[in-house]
Amino acid sequence: MDLKDHIREIPDFPKPGILFYDISTLLAHADAWQVTMGRMAKAARQHQPDVIAGIESRGFLVAAPLALKLGCGFIMVRKQGKLPGKTIRHTYALEYGEDTVEIQDNAIEPGQRVILVDDLLATGGTFAASVELLRKVGADVTSAACIIELEFLKGRDKLDIPVHALVSYD
Ligand code: PRP
Ligand code: MG
Repeated sequence: MDLKDHIREIPDFPKPGILFYDISTLLAHADAWQVTMGRMAKAARQHQPDVIAGIESRGFLVAAPLALKLGCGFIMVRKQGKLPGKTIRHTYALEYGEDTVEIQDNAIEPGQRVILVDDLLATGGTFAASVELLRKVGADVTSAACIIELEFLKGRDKLDIPVHALVSYD
């Protein structure tokens, strides 16, 4: 199955000139979503993770079912200010301004093998910041996984771990 047949392409969203790859249609198609998660699980298993970390918000849609499939725990990498209790943050630069990702300080034990999951790799800023954050608490981040990679943005060059993408666009 070619997953691209189930990813809707929407021109000029969220800004003129940007082509948006919409996974809503993939999620809504029972067979295509099963195949997607089967392929994610196959890629992830080889890294023998203890924990799957999902990046808010669309990353949660992929990471939580992946954790279930692999029999791992699932943890949330969230945008700032959403998590209760003691948290650890990492702030990173955007083209204009900055952003912060956050996890709960007890989410991971040092040395645990973590796969970081999002729906899409674009510039790589989100993945790179989340890797830094997980490393702050001693996680062994073994790999990153996503459904879509926008290869022309060269986001994987920002990462020093293997990246698995199910489909890529040039
Ligand atoms: C999108 C996408 C990735 C990120 C990729 O999330 O879901 O998380 O951007 O971009 P990057 O590689 O350039 O950092 P978005 O911030 O739009 O929010 P959402 O997941 O909450 O919809
Ligand atoms: Mg996102």
